[in-house]
Amino acid sequence: MTELHIRPTAALRARVRVPGDKSISHRALLLGALAKGDSHVSGFLSSGDCQATVHCLRVLGIAVDEIDATTLTIHGRGLHGLRPPSVPLDCQRSGTTMRMLSGIMAGQSFSSVLTGEPQLRRRPMERVAEPLRLMGAHIETTDGHAPLTVRGSPLHGIDYDMPIASAQVKSALLLAALYANSPTVLREPGPARDHTERMLQAMIVPRAAVAAAAQPLHRSGNVWTLDPAQIDHLQALDTIVPGDFSSAAFILVAGALVPGSEITVSGVGINPTRTGMLDVLRAMGAQIDVQNERQQSGEPVADLVVRSAALRSAQVQGDLVVRMIDEFPVLAVAATQAQGRTIVRDAAELRVKETDRIATVVGELRKLGAQIEPYEDGFAVSGPTPLRGTVVKSHGDHRLAMALAVAALVAEGQTTVQDTGWIADSFPGFDELLGSLRA
Ligand code: S3P
Repeated sequence: MTELHIRPTAALRARVRVPGDKSISHRALLLGALAKGDSHVSGFLSSGDCQATVHCLRVLGIAVDEIDATTLTIHGRGLHGLRPPSVPLDCQRSGTTMRMLSGIMAGQSFSSVLTGEPQLRRRPMERVAEPLRLMGAHIETTDGHAPLTVRGSPLHGIDYDMPIASAQVKSALLLAALYANSPTVLREPGPARDHTERMLQAMIVPRAAVAAAAQPLHRSGNVWTLDPAQIDHLQALDTIVPGDFSSAAFILVAGALVPGSEITVSGVGINPTRTGMLDVLRAMGAQIDVQNERQQSGEPVADLVVRSAALRSAQVQGDLVVRMIDEFPVLAVAATQAQGRTIVRDAAELRVKETDRIATVVGELRKLGAQIEPYEDGFAVSGPTPLRGTVVKSHGDHRLAMALAVAALVAEGQTTVQDTGWIADSFPGFDELLGSLRA
């Protein structure tokens, strides 16, 4: 079992890059597989979760050439080019792989089984199976969980009010909609990340006869419409994946909390559906400059400069929650050092992430001396509180492990974070990068 031993540190000063965006890396693989021809990806996140997607695509007959750790070529075979799998598709611990792939598998002419490791088999899958069934899919869950058995069948479009703001579910339905014989209309309850829609819009080649008509995939407010009859095929795409904002968030909090710090994180994706934590940190008084804003492969990218500052508490609820859904473990750490009571509500989704993040964040931060209380749909943190180093553990959750490592930078004495191997699910090289920040 791997462990990190961390002592508090003086000022952090560095210019760094974080690994590629996990969500965009998954999408480049899956959409590249469905495109006609070769798609090239650079800045790819070669993490445990993305490797699970590579593995599943290979089982489905897609060649993926890994040119180096962050560059690959996907030999797409078109919307109808996947081969029937001879073994179950092992999504390992990756919820994005399982949910997005279930949408693709629903529209095939063959059957498949999607499974994964125990952690993933505990996560809810009816949220994707149920609307896929409304489209005509034959999909069985195991008491609401994986393994999923998908018998490929003809699909039709649906008009669907999504009960949960989930990019994984939205993406699965848009992918299934590519295979349907009528248009699909999706209404989102909140602004879930839109990387699939951006990439699809760049890849869709409309049928010549309807080229002048409305875009085959278009948005009007919170409503997405996809009309498969207007799509001829998906064209291959070259994608430069930006740095993952969710990984950068750990560095931003470290830089904000450790006195005297100044860190630049270059080339980070700042898609507004992802940057709720930037808004919250700034509202808390963090000094973060967004520099060199630019567009890269259809996504906004910038360099982020953080300087340490005294923080005050924040209130997080409503639509903001979905724009920072992966950042709550590290927000809780920031809140322990902020003046006042930080309150998070409307975040019950945290209970069904890699772990029940309300329970695990509260339990582990209390061991360090934090004043944190759980709510059914969030938590409250009173600060500032001096943290004391001790032994804490990841519960198999990459983001909890990294949040605890950031807390250790401002805790008195040594902190041991146990079971940190999982960090490689999203941020390979995290511990070296953290070490390199020390002035
Ligand atoms: C992701 C969407 C989010 C997020 C996850 C990655 C994606 O999950 O928590 O880490 O790539 O679509 P939900 O869509 O289930 O909220």
